[in-house]
Amino acid sequence: MNFRFFPLKNRPNYRSLFVGLDTHVPIALGGSTVGINFDNAATTPPFLSVMEEIVRFAPQYSSIHRGAGYKSVISSQVYEQARNEVMKFVGADPRTDGVVFLKNTSEGLNKLSYRLLNKNRREVVLTTWMEHHSNLLPWRDKYSVDYVDIDEQGRLRLEDLQVKLERYQGAVKLVTVTGASNVTGHRNPIYKIAELAHRYGAKICVDGAQLVPHAPVDMRPAHLPEHIDFLTFSAHKMYAPFGTGVLIGPRDVFEQGSPEYSGGGTVRMVTSDRVIWDAPPHKEEAGTPNVMGVVALVAAIKTLSNIGMKKVQSHEESLVEYAYARLQGMEGLTLYGGVPMNSHQASQRISVIPFNIEGRHHEDVAEMLSLEGGIAVRSGCFCAQPYVQRLLHIPKRDIEKYISNPSLPLPGMVRASFGLYNTQEEIDGFVDLLGRMLRVRKLSRTARLGR
Ligand SMILES: Cc1ncc(COP(=O)(O)O)c(C=O)c1O
Repeated sequence: MNFRFFPLKNRPNYRSLFVGLDTHVPIALGGSTVGINFDNAATTPPFLSVMEEIVRFAPQYSSIHRGAGYKSVISSQVYEQARNEVMKFVGADPRTDGVVFLKNTSEGLNKLSYRLLNKNRREVVLTTWMEHHSNLLPWRDKYSVDYVDIDEQGRLRLEDLQVKLERYQGAVKLVTVTGASNVTGHRNPIYKIAELAHRYGAKICVDGAQLVPHAPVDMRPAHLPEHIDFLTFSAHKMYAPFGTGVLIGPRDVFEQGSPEYSGGGTVRMVTSDRVIWDAPPHKEEAGTPNVMGVVALVAAIKTLSNIGMKKVQSHEESLVEYAYARLQGMEGLTLYGGVPMNSHQASQRISVIPFNIEGRHHEDVAEMLSLEGGIAVRSGCFCAQPYVQRLLHIPKRDIEKYISNPSLPLPGMVRASFGLYNTQEEIDGFVDLLGRMLRVRKLSRTARLGR
């Protein structure tokens, strides 16, 4: 194995950029310990710069767009300028693309599902077996949905995408795929997927919820075959927890049709029986927008850009490599999605590690990590049930049993997910505690067998 281990003194330490990392949490032995947060795939703690910017901007805060007052003008400028900052951060094409601000990735994908809808025809959308529910459910009730297959390790099978695009003979409207999985951390080859989709006349949407916070993303110019048509992501997963999300896509797509939510801010004129919609993006942002959320997002983007997304990626990769190097081979521990065997393979993953301890329910393991070590992880199916069911090889008839008997404990996994501020020392604490749990399990099993 060819893994990079940073010597302690050379390791970048980003902890001073964050709020709340030294918070004590109670543990079962009594007293408390400094909490370790390995649940960053769910949400992330705020950057200090984000909190400072919120406080700095607060005296200027006002309702935007329709106010003539000074603060309203300033707030409107800040809000509108933010669209350019977001586009720059992910390499959107300013000639063709526009930014819609909304709550989160889920809302972005829902909005797109309405925006692309052709009420006269049920069109084909290709999604995949490895998606979060937010990139499955919005499509199901409006389109003919088909699923691109995955391999044993949970990686997307590109050849199956090609087979399906071929089979539908130009009828696929959209290929919608996660940039990186929130379950296994596998990154998808989004540019190859974009090229393939475009070759068959489809557009591509990338669910960037787990990719944008962890690696450089470049949507690339609109005339290139590898251009990403739509991208959506959530600020709360990139250290700006104030309820903002982003959907980016070609402006002309948002010019057509009626928005799925209407109301204040969406119109140019209304009469008793007519409505003339405003131009996008305003048409897509019904009601009073979340200005503070957007201020927070831009502050996070600036901090991430100052660090450099390549450095973010490389730091997190080194954490993943280190964790896998320590975890692999531990008896009684099952790691899902395959173990990266070298730096290249680690670079195809984001910092998410799914596992189970043999003979222990995933919820119990997560609870023990919290109670004994103050370590926050997540357990269950991570809002990606079809994917987790596949990775766990749960037969269809068993799934039916869980559906008909809601009191059965549900299958699942434990997930540790790292952020920019996590350290090798935290991973050591986590692995040592898992090691103790595995030893206790082994001892109690031996005792049971000996009885
Ligand atoms: C891959 C992926 N897509 C979409 C979402 C939904 O994000 P949000 O809850 O911010 O809408 C998540 C959330 O965990 C995710 O991991």
